[in-house]
Amino acid sequence: MLILGIDTSCDDTSCAVVKDGRQVLSNIVASQTKLHEKFGGVVPEIASRRHLEVLVPACQEALQQAGVTLKDIDGIAVTNGPGLLGSLLVGVGFAKALAYAAKVPLIDVHHIAGHIYANFLGETLPEFPLLNLVVSGGHSELILMESHGQFRLLGETRDDAAGEVFDKVAREMGLGYPGGPYLDRLAETGDPARIPFPLPKIRGSRYDYSFSGIKTRALLELEAGEKSEVFMRDLAAGFRKGVVDQLLNPVEDLIRQTGARGFALSGGVAANRLLRRESQALAQKLNIPLFVPPMELCTDNGAMIASAGYYKYKLTGGSRSQLETLLLECSAGLPLRSWEVDVG
Ligand code: KG4
Ligand code: ZN
Repeated sequence: MLILGIDTSCDDTSCAVVKDGRQVLSNIVASQTKLHEKFGGVVPEIASRRHLEVLVPACQEALQQAGVTLKDIDGIAVTNGPGLLGSLLVGVGFAKALAYAAKVPLIDVHHIAGHIYANFLGETLPEFPLLNLVVSGGHSELILMESHGQFRLLGETRDDAAGEVFDKVAREMGLGYPGGPYLDRLAETGDPARIPFPLPKIRGSRYDYSFSGIKTRALLELEAGEKSEVFMRDLAAGFRKGVVDQLLNPVEDLIRQTGARGFALSGGVAANRLLRRESQALAQKLNIPLFVPPMELCTDNGAMIASAGYYKYKLTGGSRSQLETLLLECSAGLPLRSWEVDVG
């Protein structure tokens, strides 16, 4: 079964063709980073206009690279939230029209489910129960999956997302855009012990996160520090360690408690070198496999949406009628819900 996956949730226009939810035949990502760089962040209006320009050619290229035509496609999966509303509207509007014209089912995919399913595109299939740490520019969540499409939220951030604080601190340090990868690279050469960032205490929950305190502390240290090259490296290393320590702090406990048979990282921040190393060490200690997508599947892409769409289609059937196809809506704050198994 061939699924065309489309993601326009933020600032990347992505289209991919995936076979049977596992085999990536093409994965086109038209990045808008250069467009937004000078503003130091994504400008929603510019992002949606750009999606309009490049979505059709990106899809044509995805089909071409996969060596197929629209006639060969069995279903279209599209991100319908969460994300920037204007950007989502472009992708969903296009996917609806295409599915309607091609008379194939339309499958709506939650962006976080998409990130999680990037781990189903690797050589080894994860087993359930699977504990997922989803860390991106907008999300930091611990999600347990007992089976396909069953998502149980065990922990989430109370304030900023991990990627968001990486980007903010990197920006104030005068690093590139988006800041996460730059800060990560700089931290590799620094001493994390010079400026320690202790774990915050979060009232009422053992598994939730809070990153705004770490962010403020890093910004205060930056303001007071001597701003030498060595200082900047050490600050980056200490800050990165603080974020990663916090992200992994609840994981051991949760894996033991839930009997998880795998630990999976996903989302843009899963590209972080320290997070990957520390997660590997933890998984080894607990004797369970670690799943991390390759770099190009960590950040936003259409292949992960196509994969999630395939598994969702198998469970739920996707849109049944052409009317259902045309009625699909998108939402900037869409909550992650488990897929309802089709019993009809
Ligand atoms: O998943 P993603 O592409 O977009 C969202 O859905 O948000 O994640 C982008 C985020 C950005 O905040 C970016 O700085 C961060 O992922 N990121 C990293 C690294 N690579 C990307 N953060 C820390 N270390 C990295 N190596
Ligand atoms: Zn994302």
